[in-house]
Amino acid sequence: MKILFLDQSGKPGGAELCLIDIAKPYRDSCLVGLFVDGAFRQLLEQQQIPVEVLATEAIKVRKESSLIQSLSSVTALLPLIAKVAQKARQYDLIYANTQKALVVGALASFFSRRPLVYHLHDILSTDHFSPTNLKVAVTLANRFASLVIANSKASQAAFLAAGGRSDIIDVVYNGFEPEVYQSDRSHISQLKTQLELEGQFIVGHFSRLSPWKGQHILIEALTDCPKDVTAIFVGDALFGEHDYVQQLHKQVAELGLADRVKFLGFRSDIPQLMAICDLVAHTSTAPEPFGRVIVEAMLCGKPIVAAQSGGAIELIEPGINGFLVPPGQPHQLAEIINTCHDRPEYTIAIAQSAQEMATRRFHQTNIDRQIAHLLSRTFT
Ligand code: UDP
Ligand code: GLC
Repeated sequence: MKILFLDQSGKPGGAELCLIDIAKPYRDSCLVGLFVDGAFRQLLEQQQIPVEVLATEAIKVRKESSLIQSLSSVTALLPLIAKVAQKARQYDLIYANTQKALVVGALASFFSRRPLVYHLHDILSTDHFSPTNLKVAVTLANRFASLVIANSKASQAAFLAAGGRSDIIDVVYNGFEPEVYQSDRSHISQLKTQLELEGQFIVGHFSRLSPWKGQHILIEALTDCPKDVTAIFVGDALFGEHDYVQQLHKQVAELGLADRVKFLGFRSDIPQLMAICDLVAHTSTAPEPFGRVIVEAMLCGKPIVAAQSGGAIELIEPGINGFLVPPGQPHQLAEIINTCHDRPEYTIAIAQSAQEMATRRFHQTNIDRQIAHLLSRTFT
């Protein structure tokens, strides 16, 4: 099957990392079309996945934009839509991986008469989108997509609640290659020394810096934890959240936590960094559509505590393979951190069972099979 994948981003967020894995089995006959250049293109090239930047200017449809802004953006998109429609004629189907890719892909699918798949990585609710953009996404998906793949039951439920068609949507979780998440012991202690973290109880937070990812909640929680509890924040502001970054640094200074918090920026060695942690914390204050970092922590054999909302609820059974705390509650988060700090045997056992479960449930081979099945069921 020849697939034209579309993604709006040049930056490697979770939806983009997921797309790399989905496109791999099709690399001999697919193309990933990006709307802007960036590090994501290089990651695709490293995996020998054909990629082309189709637009030279970033597309300015903001999540909160109004109808007038959205319509004028669509006009600005016309040359890109024409280019995608022309490309699509060499492929069997268009696979839109993000919301803006859906807008372009839907119209290109109409002009090129190629079917459309929409991979829904978002919870389509007003927590994340303007009412106008919500309506645009659901209307285009209902009218043009033959198949919508939701990254969790939570994303599926939000799509249906927003008026999405139930006959076109299926859930497929993100896939992972478990071997990637194994690290050797000597490397772990080297990295700890390098980062000056020996003897600390390390809580890792792996996420782009953005208000709804809730890094401030973990910082606040540290004030209720023993002094050997240190947090590392891995990730950068990918979408211009510079005020929030400043706010985080100010919060750390005001709480006198400068020696217990490290910001490491965007890193490519996530499995190694997770391996040095005693606990991984996920603190999103709005429902997380899926939450790759939750599964990655499990695959690394690390205890995970996550905000009890969205996809996280589907991934974690509290006390069995991880911990859940209500979103936005630093004191309750601190209680879990302190339990893990004080009862390592208990939490290590939980982490081990999470690792076994995640290896089976999210294995890339299973996920590839599910996607291939959906594509062949829908298009042959
Ligand atoms: N990630 C990364 N480097 C960083 C921070 C995060 O490669 O410095 C990865 C992380 O391992 C995960 C993805 O980015 O695979 C984030 O995906 P997730 O679903 O957790 O959240 P998103 O940012 O897509 O909402
Ligand atoms: C999006 C979501 C995230 C999800 C990822 C992969 O970036 O915000 O929750 O894990 O897509 O599906």
